[in-house]
Amino acid sequence: MAEAPPPCTAAPVSDPTGRVFRMKLLGMETYVVADPEALRPLLSDDGAHFAIPIASFNWLMESLSVQNSKQTHGPWRKLHMAALTGGGLKALLPAVRRIMEDHVQQWASSGRVGIFEEARRMGLDLSIFAITGVDLEGKIDMRWFKEQMYLFLGGLYGLPFALPGTKLAKGLAAKKRLLGALMPLLKERHEAFHAEWEAAGGDPAKVAAKLMDESEEPITVHKAQMMGFHSIGAGTLRGTAMSVLHSVMAAADTTRFALFNTWALLAQLPAVQDKIYEEQQKVVSELGPELSFQALSRMPYLDAVFKEALRVLPPSSGGFRKLTRDATICGVTLPAGTLIWYHALLLQILDPVLWDGDTSVDLPPHMDWQNNLEAAFQPERWMGDETQRPRSFYVFGWGSHLCAGTNLVQMEVKLLLALVMRRFRLELEMPDMLTRAELFPYVVPVKGTDGMRLVPREESLPWN
Ligand code: HEM
Repeated sequence: MAEAPPPCTAAPVSDPTGRVFRMKLLGMETYVVADPEALRPLLSDDGAHFAIPIASFNWLMESLSVQNSKQTHGPWRKLHMAALTGGGLKALLPAVRRIMEDHVQQWASSGRVGIFEEARRMGLDLSIFAITGVDLEGKIDMRWFKEQMYLFLGGLYGLPFALPGTKLAKGLAAKKRLLGALMPLLKERHEAFHAEWEAAGGDPAKVAAKLMDESEEPITVHKAQMMGFHSIGAGTLRGTAMSVLHSVMAAADTTRFALFNTWALLAQLPAVQDKIYEEQQKVVSELGPELSFQALSRMPYLDAVFKEALRVLPPSSGGFRKLTRDATICGVTLPAGTLIWYHALLLQILDPVLWDGDTSVDLPPHMDWQNNLEAAFQPERWMGDETQRPRSFYVFGWGSHLCAGTNLVQMEVKLLLALVMRRFRLELEMPDMLTRAELFPYVVPVKGTDGMRLVPREESLPWN
């Protein structure tokens, strides 16, 4: 076994460990930083602030960021956490389950599913119906609405040219139509919240505390967003409608790729599928068939499968920060104003618990799903001795901006896997689908290769 690389304390001019390097992406210059010690304070707003340096993204989202100031970020985050963990999360379960059951019934009747397109549709449905909580049913042509949302999301990450026919131009036009449709529907909700905001003197911390203490109903993501948007001076009806687009942006594509990546891996791992099924047998025999909040909390193997899938094939590439003061990282001094990128996949490759320091391989064995998936994919890593568990897990970020939706996504992925695995075995129609796919910035299969067969189990388990 090769020796682990030296700790990152080398001399001033260059970085011999390769943990800091410069790159250009979509016309912007950024430094990829893969040194956890150096990143820790920066990801907690000490020496850097939150930044999304992608022009097309900021054009569509209008640079409306609650996260840049502690004063607005703290209360906004507190409300998000209330909406997306504990009682808030439990309140979301029925809507999530309804959406998933509808989708799974459709697949079951056709015996197969195109997982790339289906993950997109499901991510969108979950974000629109369960997360934003806006009541659209019967008030709007839902097919049209989802198409517009798809065009809007499609413009977020690309070249910043809004020439006719480009994804950005289509995204901007769709955004205008979406805001036009959402504003009348949100008028009442907006005005009610605006009155609460005024009554509390327009102080974000006070409004958040009041909502947490006095609200008899669970806090919703949309309330958290309206509060955040009011706190950054976007407390208009248009701002409230924009906040819905922000929630869909945070939840739709991220969930989509988490679902797609997980299915794509599991469909190649029959032994892991069998273990999930065995765990489901146990849960059903102990707690009955219902996929309740309590039942979902009693699936340690499925929890480990979820983490392992995201470790091996992360659906996010981490995030960016802008330095607010000079920082010396691995001997390289980066001046204030520099953009840095913490890259989830790279940090997970370099995990000090799993990587032996061998740089002579293309990919180390704990990440090498292309050549030896069974050896790379080991949910048991997350279930044993604490000291042996993976330590570098950056899919959901780290520090004071750690993803507020982590528990929700975990619940969603587990629920879906339990629904499907109780009745079916999964098989890819093209076993090499993943190795032929594009891998950056997201895993995108070659058109027509993403079919997955649902093979009924001899003994299927009930859901409810
Ligand atoms: C697999 C799915 C998801 C992934 C991979 C993901 C990833 C991330 C990452 C990497 C960050 C940190 C960004 C940074 O440090 O620059 C983040 C933040 C955030 N995510 Fe997620 N996310 C997912 C799903 C969701 C969902 C479903 C929601 C629900 C609304 C959500 C809400 C948020 C929020 C509100 C933040 C900002 C937290 C803060 O600044 O305090 N995410 N997410």
